[in-house]
Amino acid sequence: MRRKRILSGMRPTGRLHLGNYLGALKNWVDLQNSHECFFMIADWHALTSDYADPSQLRANMREVVLDWLGAGIDPARSTVFIQSLVKEHAELALLFGMFTPLAWCERNPSYKDQIVQLANKELETYGFLGYPVLQAADILIYRAEVVPVGEDQLPHLEITREIARRVNYMHGGPIEPVTNAPLNPIFPEPEALLSPAPKLPGLDGRKMSKSYGNAINLSDPADAVTAATRQMVTDPARVRRSDPGNPEVCSVFAYHKLFTTDRVEEIAADCRSAGIGCTDCKKILAGSLNSMLDPMRERRAQYESKPGEVAEILEAGTARARTEAQATMAVLRERLNLVSAAADTMAAAAAAQA
Ligand code: TRP
Ligand code: SF4
Repeated sequence: MRRKRILSGMRPTGRLHLGNYLGALKNWVDLQNSHECFFMIADWHALTSDYADPSQLRANMREVVLDWLGAGIDPARSTVFIQSLVKEHAELALLFGMFTPLAWCERNPSYKDQIVQLANKELETYGFLGYPVLQAADILIYRAEVVPVGEDQLPHLEITREIARRVNYMHGGPIEPVTNAPLNPIFPEPEALLSPAPKLPGLDGRKMSKSYGNAINLSDPADAVTAATRQMVTDPARVRRSDPGNPEVCSVFAYHKLFTTDRVEEIAADCRSAGIGCTDCKKILAGSLNSMLDPMRERRAQYESKPGEVAEILEAGTARARTEAQATMAVLRERLNLVSAAADTMAAAAAAQA
């Protein structure tokens, strides 16, 4: 059976943390077994909010790609590429702009949210309003059928589907009267695939986030991970070692549920009976995290020592992506009666006269 095609992307904002891993990257790694995967570094999307200071952009792209490869994104099976090197994304976004009613963008809850949350940046721009139009182009240019994303991205996916439907309806050939669907659609209507992972608390108990400074990065050395676990907030009511604890209110235990899966019951019981102290409980967690992270760190270091190889992976992925993107654009240009060479303009006149 043909594998369904996936496209997903991340804005390069720097090193990835455990929350990013569980929320997205782990899913991507697993999906390589069942889908044809395209993974994109969305550098243009990063610029929609960071256009005033792009100084970190390249360094961030490097960190992200190393984190991906370290975590197990396999360039032999997946197409890993850089958005801004496939210029067709920009061309498709421009064309989609013709089809996208302003209200779809203005009503987008993510947009309204971000304008308020990132009030320190001037985001009342054409580019930022058009963020979901560019994202629709990212997805539809590969005719992707499935898009693994977090819940925050659902409004963008919905706009993507609406754009696909509208372009298909207008240019996807005759409409079948019973189904009311175009007979020759250009784009599939991609489905969101929500990551099953629960939100991971940060070291202070709030949501793990780079901007809160409460994260554990995938690339942190083992001793830094161990030190981080020592800082984690536990059951605040457990003051003395002899006090019984309540694992359900403890971030350390939330981690055990995700990373020490074979010993959760035992740890919960030992916590409740004060059979284990928080210091030892945290040591167990450091062990679980480090045994998961060790192979990732090792793979990352391998790639880090061979920058030429990473560049080749990106170059090959980008070339592959470009071929697919160009094939889609050829179809769309034709449907929109655009020319592929100046001579086509004159050929049309000659045909009309004949
Ligand atoms: N908007 C996504 C985010 O912030 C990144 C992204 C850009 C993306 N283009 C995409 C995700 C296409 C999925 C598909 O996380
Ligand atoms: Fe949390 Fe473990 Fe301490 Fe219980 S023993 S409160 S689960 S750190």
